[in-house]
Amino acid sequence: MSDAALPAGADQAFETIVGGLDYPMFLVTTRAGDRLAGCLVGFASQTSIDPPRFLVGLSKQNHTYRIALDAPGLVVHVLATDHLELAELFGGETGDEVDKFARCDWSDGPLGIPVLHDVAGWFSGRTLEHFDLGDHTAFLLEPGAGEVGHGLDRLVTFQDVRELEPGHDA
Ligand SMILES: Cc1cc2nc3c(=O)[nH]c(=O)nc-3n(C[C@H](O)[C@H](O)[C@H](O)COP(=O)(O)O)c2cc1C
Repeated sequence: MSDAALPAGADQAFETIVGGLDYPMFLVTTRAGDRLAGCLVGFASQTSIDPPRFLVGLSKQNHTYRIALDAPGLVVHVLATDHLELAELFGGETGDEVDKFARCDWSDGPLGIPVLHDVAGWFSGRTLEHFDLGDHTAFLLEPGAGEVGHGLDRLVTFQDVRELEPGHDA
């Protein structure tokens, strides 16, 4: 079917479908030297079972992206809905303006990357490669050590935070 033959509104299908989807949100942290960074991400997914691989899409506008380019990897957290404030801090503020890590509890994790307390779970990932996706860049991770906490049955999802104003435009 040519575009001319498509029914009215068909060109909006992609936006309508992805806007209505629901999926878990992730909070990624990273460190390059003494520079810490982290942000909320929705563009993230397991991409292979054997070997295990996980892909994170970081906006080129984000402070986190710039630090991640120089970092050995990322720590990927999932959040329970009783800690929605962590999603608001890391998704609604930018490290270009505020020190997010002064406003939450964390400790050093694998590769020296901050691991946030008060999360439902996390895993570390060494960056194998990164490649262009458009206004985002993909970071392909080899998952490593991690920890399972409480609240995996009530994770923060896209629909919980879709009204949140991002700290950076995409
Ligand atoms: C619902 C939602 C989804 C988001 N998804 C992503 C994403 O997949 N990748 C990304 O880099 N930023 C994403 N962001 C935006 C960043 O979390 C936000 O701009 C953050 O403030 C950037 O912080 P930074 O500049 O300290 O890195 C999302 C924000 C929201 C509210």
